Amino acid sequence: MAVVRHRPGQLQAQPVEAKPGLAPAKKLIGTTSCSASVCHGGSDLGKPFSEATTWRSLDPHARAYDTLLTQESQTIAKHLWRDKMPAHEAPLCLKCHVHPEYDRARPNFRKQDGVGCESCHGAAQDWLTPHYRANWKDADKQALGLAHTKSLAGRANVCVKCHVGTPDANVDHDLIAAGHPALRFEFATYFANLPPHWDVAKDKRANSTNGAKAIDFEARAWVIGQLAAAESALNLLAHRADPASAKPWPELAEFDCFACHHDLQNGAWRQTKQRVGARRPGSLVWNSWYFAIVSDDSIQTTPPHVLLDPPVFHDFRPKTRARAELAKEARHAAANLRLAVTSPWLSGGPGQLEAGASWDQATKHYLALLSLRQQGKDNNQPPDADLERQIAKLRAEVTLAPGFNSPRQVKGKN
Ligand code: HEC
Ligand code: HEC
Ligand code: HEC
Ligand code: HEC
Repeated sequence: MAVVRHRPGQLQAQPVEAKPGLAPAKKLIGTTSCSASVCHGGSDLGKPFSEATTWRSLDPHARAYDTLLTQESQTIAKHLWRDKMPAHEAPLCLKCHVHPEYDRARPNFRKQDGVGCESCHGAAQDWLTPHYRANWKDADKQALGLAHTKSLAGRANVCVKCHVGTPDANVDHDLIAAGHPALRFEFATYFANLPPHWDVAKDKRANSTNGAKAIDFEARAWVIGQLAAAESALNLLAHRADPASAKPWPELAEFDCFACHHDLQNGAWRQTKQRVGARRPGSLVWNSWYFAIVSDDSIQTTPPHVLLDPPVFHDFRPKTRARAELAKEARHAAANLRLAVTSPWLSGGPGQLEAGASWDQATKHYLALLSLRQQGKDNNQPPDADLERQIAKLRAEVTLAPGFNSPRQVKGKN
């Protein structure tokens, strides 16, 4: 059986920011500088030279700042800080709803533009002028601060900063209890849901192992996305658990939401053997979203078949008690994260979902099936009736109960 091995080190694109001490931090220029009609502000939605117009009219990121002005956001801010700070002035909110370094900006940078070009493409101070010169193709683009969005790993590493979170800005249980949706990032799906301002077919060919023969973009995006998100989530866990961070521990967002938020009754599915496994009934359950496919117990049970090499996740999370030790192990795991995906996923896709799987596992599985369906379409294959049946069945199972707002919509990609 063919095994494809990935290590984050190999997948990692160039670092997005300048390394501290090497070069002065680059300043943000603002989306207005990109939006002239002769630059990226054309009127042909989705087409070259109309990127800014596409973003402004269709992309949810263009409205990310406006979200902070809504009643919903003002209520979140009130719950957190009473009347001391409105959401649209709170650094925590602005770091994700505008730019992680929104305050390092030229005067004409407008926060009101929300998650703009430089949030994904990198601060433009040093590349704005060179990037429309003739010799741009020869420039050291990353050294000038351009993010490596051309590669899948480069762009996944951009998204996870806001969609998984960093020690500097993240959505913890305080934020969730105040009303913020819990973040459940799935790169392949989120990427597919982004209204493209680039040539999708060309991008899929460029990011396939052998684009001329077969498009395996979806499988690659899926694997790379799992790794980028797991690495980010582990670094966040390491920070939260580290006593030096002085963060409250346990951080409830690291645990399975439904472990605490549910009605109490006998004979519940939580008491079934598959669910409890080797744990003592009643002990806290880790949140498995970012680890559903890289955790040890997923080997050969939760598809796609995942092997670990070495098994860095080997039950380190459930067993470790001391937060300092946990932080150390999480940091080690983040640095050594490896994932070996056996060929069923890359060629034929995930197998059956195990009985007793959690909502997180079922939803991850469902989203993987959607990627698989998309991969079939990319290669002009006819719809697979069995796959469609599995998708329909799972969709019914994972659809959120009324009152839950995150992920906002569990939906298909077409
Ligand atoms: C600077 C932070 C930031 C970065 C970087 C970022 N996002 Fe977002 N994204 C957000 C915020 C904030 C929202 C919520 C916008 C709103 O509704 O106000 C969002 C919303 C979205 C949505 C809509 C979600 C929904 O429920 O409808 C998608 C899809 C998405 N992002 C995909 C991506 C992808 C893919 C990347 C990387 C290529 C990315 N984002 C990079 C902050 C970011
Ligand atoms: C770690 C980054 C991060 C931080 C910090 C953050 N957000 Fe968000 N926020 C997001 C992302 C990403 C989404 C989109 C979630 C999705 O759809 O998956 C979002 C969604 C939202 C939504 C729901 C939007 C909708 O259209 O349904 C609201 C409201 C919101 N954020 C307000 C706030 C407020 C207020 C703050 C500060 C108290 C804040 N956010 C801090 C990343 C962040
Ligand atoms: C949420 C992240 C995100 C935001 C915000 C964003 N982009 Fe992009 N952009 C991408 C990704 C991903 C690609 C596809 C990969 C690539 O070509 O680098 C891309 C591609 C491009 C391309 C190359 C198109 C091609 O076909 O080669 C241009 C030009 C571009 N973006 C301009 C902009 C401008 C201008 C803005 C702001 C108005 C913007 N982008 C905002 C993520 C983003
Ligand atoms: C270890 C137990 C525990 C875990 C795990 C946990 N919570 Fe909570 N949650 C609580 C407690 C305790 C409160 C506060 C209840 C109160 O104030 O009455 C709370 C409050 C909340 C609230 C405020 C509204 C309400 O119903 O009380 C929300 C929303 C929420 N949690 C969502 C989540 C989500 C989403 C997750 C998973 C990411 C999660 N919680 C994980 C224990 C937990």
